[in-house]
Amino acid sequence: MEAIIKEINRLKKEKNAIILGHYYARPEVQRVADYLGDSLGLSRVAGETDADIILFCGVEFMAETASIISPDKKVLIPVKGAGCTLAQSITAAGILTWKRKYPDGIVVSYVNTTAEVKAVTDYCVTSANALKIVKQLPEGRPILFTPDKNLGEYIKIATGREMDIWQGECYVHDVITTELVEHFLEKYPDAELLIHPESAACSNRQLLEHPRVIVGSTTKIMNRPSESSYKQFLIATEPDTLAELTRLYPDLDFVPVIPEHRCEYMKLTTLENIHDALLHEQYEVKVPEELREKAIVPIDRMLELS
Ligand code: 13P
Ligand code: SF4
Repeated sequence: MEAIIKEINRLKKEKNAIILGHYYARPEVQRVADYLGDSLGLSRVAGETDADIILFCGVEFMAETASIISPDKKVLIPVKGAGCTLAQSITAAGILTWKRKYPDGIVVSYVNTTAEVKAVTDYCVTSANALKIVKQLPEGRPILFTPDKNLGEYIKIATGREMDIWQGECYVHDVITTELVEHFLEKYPDAELLIHPESAACSNRQLLEHPRVIVGSTTKIMNRPSESSYKQFLIATEPDTLAELTRLYPDLDFVPVIPEHRCEYMKLTTLENIHDALLHEQYEVKVPEELREKAIVPIDRMLELS
């Protein structure tokens, strides 16, 4: 493993490439990332880097977002077909049908969507800024929140804004139900539970009021232990986040609530295909300019408001 990591680092330097990795990437892949982050953090870095090549260790919609933000960079994804059940759950046609019914409506889409969906969206959001952005939307107009039903319900409860919610889901987080969360809270009475808002339990108002439940994006989950008085944390999100959590906080105890339920799409990226991607400069993700000009609008609005 050390040999391939060395070669990846050499190629990175030679090609002036930057490796961006999501916290759900394989732990060994996280090690070679120049920047490890959540969807919002990675979008920001993609817009600010002066590297010639952005190698994205995540899923396709993330690489596509990087290409929309940084059209002059070569954006690579090491493996083809790294999809996302959420991104697949919505199409531009679905949004346009809603828009025909509500011509003055506002469409808010999670960043986990294709470029075509972003092109017909008014505001993009990530789990880190959805609350802040929805609170700032003009009053008195219909709102459609897409595509995650659990995040949508959570935002609706937390902001009190009336919204239509698309019924998409992340297959990883949707199994984190109220029953599962209650079971862990009971079993670990001295632990705080950190939960990602894509989880099914986040649509349960009562649970959200529990004093030991903290809802947050991946970055908030990463930061929370540094400001909490608890020493043990129940991690209600993708279990490979534990790689970074245990690295950051070696003295604290982390218990994953879905230890075996990983995002299979995120795991498609391996050290071997990262190496090949750098060597052969494959596989390029390029959003056509006409589509990009439309898809950048809701992303720019998001970056301005967050
Ligand atoms: P964030 O990176 O916004 O926390 O979203 C998690 C996720 O499911 C990414 O695919
Ligand atoms: Fe998509 Fe869920 Fe995987 Fe994130 S964790 S890439 S939302 S399937």
